[in-house]
Amino acid sequence: MRVAELRLLNFRAYPGAQVFLRPGFNLLIGDNGAGKTSLLEALATLALARAARGGLSTELVRWGASEMGVAATTWRGEVEGRLEMRWRAQPPAGRWSRTLRAEGAPVTPAAYLGRLRVVSFWPEDLGLVKAGPEPRRRMLDVVLCQLYPQYAQALSLYRRALDQRNSSLRAIREGRADPAELSPWLEPLAQYGALVMSHRERYLKEAGPLAQRAAGRIGERTPLELRYLPGTRGASGEGWRDRLLGALRDAEEEEVARGQTVVGPQRDDFEIAYADRPARQYASQGQQRTAVLAVKAAEVSQHLAEGGQSPVVLLDDVLSELDRDHRRGLLEVLGEGMGVEQALVTATEDSGLEEAIGPSQVLLVSGGEVRGGPGS
Ligand SMILES: Nc1ncnc2c1ncn2[C@@H]1O[C@H](COP(=O)(O)OP(=O)(O)OP(=O)(O)O)[C@@H](O)[C@H]1O
Ligand SMILES: [Mg+2]
Repeated sequence: MRVAELRLLNFRAYPGAQVFLRPGFNLLIGDNGAGKTSLLEALATLALARAARGGLSTELVRWGASEMGVAATTWRGEVEGRLEMRWRAQPPAGRWSRTLRAEGAPVTPAAYLGRLRVVSFWPEDLGLVKAGPEPRRRMLDVVLCQLYPQYAQALSLYRRALDQRNSSLRAIREGRADPAELSPWLEPLAQYGALVMSHRERYLKEAGPLAQRAAGRIGERTPLELRYLPGTRGASGEGWRDRLLGALRDAEEEEVARGQTVVGPQRDDFEIAYADRPARQYASQGQQRTAVLAVKAAEVSQHLAEGGQSPVVLLDDVLSELDRDHRRGLLEVLGEGMGVEQALVTATEDSGLEEAIGPSQVLLVSGGEVRGGPGS
């Protein structure tokens, strides 16, 4: 799929902007602070209907503005689509409300998610192997929320139940509430948590071989594996629901003492390993980068397999960060390997990028404005 037009209103430093994108590579060139990353972030935010890189959605609102919007015209094969996301501050309390529209009509998140699909690659993703578990969990959520609306719904209901249970746990620890207050949260946590965990487990099982193939294309011969590390380690039971219920019951005393739920998908992680050895401890710098590129390439493959459409690929400063071999490998995997229809690539200068990626539209970004460059 591809995006033909992107419009921003009060998104980060942009008071307003309209950007026309082409199929293939769109190279966004501009100085530091020019607004390149913001454009990619706007597209990712539109796809996910929330901040795509962690942090609060309200941080994306231009300072001082009381309304923020992102809209796009998309093409999925021959079918045109129109998507719009708006955030408005509701006086007097300053709470923000979100509206999602598709084809001009308001829609629920379940009917909205998946219409625009992106696979984004931010500079911090290059450290995914060595990072803490949070960015790896977020990576899973980003891909799974776009692939399966029921996952997004379960995740949001799980988080709500978790927040409420955590407040009950704190109240019990401080003697303000009775332990019986915990029981209503057990069932929702187990039900939605099980949905989240089963999707993550299945995704990683399927993504493993895809990532291994991509790593092979980039030139890595050691087999690459992805392993799900559930946040209920050691728990036994038939399915995820039983395992979660058992783990929650076992951990209750500790959870009351800590005022926090310590088992469940909020503690999930996954491990990237080469030939059974965790990449975090043993892989070289180059192998770690290859592993990350391969995990990202697997995301693209999963979108192709599940939706039949190539997602829009967002590469923020990543190509300029890679050495020649990794850059060539990534471009080969995305281009010839998967036939990605559209990619947005940012860099502070061209420095051979156009040569590496082939004919592309060049857009010059400066001071919140985007202009077609000489290559367009
Ligand atoms: N909520 C906001 N409101 C207004 N301005 C913001 C907001 N959030 C970020 N900015 C500003 O937007 C500007 C553009 O940031 P952006 O990350 O898009 O630049 P960039 O072109 O990617 O730069 P770099 O090459 O350094 O990565 C920054 O100067 C930043 O201070
Ligand atoms: Mg940037």
